[in-house]
Amino acid sequence: MEDFEIGIIGGTGGIGKWFVNFFRNEGYIVHASGRKTGLNIDELTKRCEVVIISVPIGVTCEVIRQVGPHMKSGSLLMDFTSLKEDAVRCMIESSVSEVMGCHPLFGPDVLSMKGQNIALFPARVKKWVKWPENIFKRRGANVFEDSPGKHDEMMAIVQALNHFNSITMGVTLREQNVDPFGLEHYTTPLFNKKLEIISRVMGDSSRLYAELIAMNPKFPGILKSYRNNIDRLEALIRRRDIEGLIKYIEK
Ligand SMILES: NC(=O)c1ccc[n+]([C@@H]2O[C@H](COP(=O)([O-])OP(=O)(O)OC[C@H]3O[C@@H](n4cnc5c(N)ncnc54)[C@H](OP(=O)(O)O)[C@@H]3O)[C@@H](O)[C@H]2O)c1
Repeated sequence: MEDFEIGIIGGTGGIGKWFVNFFRNEGYIVHASGRKTGLNIDELTKRCEVVIISVPIGVTCEVIRQVGPHMKSGSLLMDFTSLKEDAVRCMIESSVSEVMGCHPLFGPDVLSMKGQNIALFPARVKKWVKWPENIFKRRGANVFEDSPGKHDEMMAIVQALNHFNSITMGVTLREQNVDPFGLEHYTTPLFNKKLEIISRVMGDSSRLYAELIAMNPKFPGILKSYRNNIDRLEALIRRRDIEGLIKYIEK
């Protein structure tokens, strides 16, 4: 283990806290801070060679702009934000330090990073270029490098469309005045799987899901296509056009 300290701003919350424990288990001294707890930005950036921003998407750039100017050249500024274009640009613009974006593609409920995907965005790195990759790979993660634009496009599908779809179904179920968990022998294995996903999305941090959907710049185009599909399917269903529906599904 190299001899330096790590600071995680947002280390009192979900994924930040997970990584506080992860890096501590790796032997590092890790400082976790939240809005009212932990070291302030000045103290944190003085002590830590690596500073990671792990705050809600909506305040990420604001926090990066506060932290960036305090970062020493030769230190490393990282973030865990689920949307990368703005965050990586803000880190580059507001600091002279090395910059590596990072998106762990898992939530704080996983027990280890073994087998999990982690995207890295090397934006301005020299001394630190291999550190995150080496440490995550050593613990069994699938680490890959990506560009922020391509990543956000993919997240418009994997996160925004996916969660939007779960929320739409969850809200619709609720409006039917049926307790989906009280259906007992009516449920099928596929429905049970879907319920599990919906209850997770609607039971977890609603702010996170709201931001993943509403702040992804690529999602409005996909939403337009989703709406078109609902309209076209509805027309087929109202006409009871089974052949048309079969063709539509098969296409
Ligand atoms: N949760 C996930 O599954 C997941 C996975 C991958 C990436 N991410 C990304 O990780 C980031 C954090 O998500 P999360 O789910 O861990 O959020 P969270 O549970 O709400 O935690 C947010 C953290 O940020 C701190 N914070 C909030 N506003 C702040 C501000 N203005 N200044 C400084 N600190 C502030 C909070 O500290 P206090 O409440 O103590 O003040 C808390 O430690 C997001 O950008 C998200 O996209 C999340």
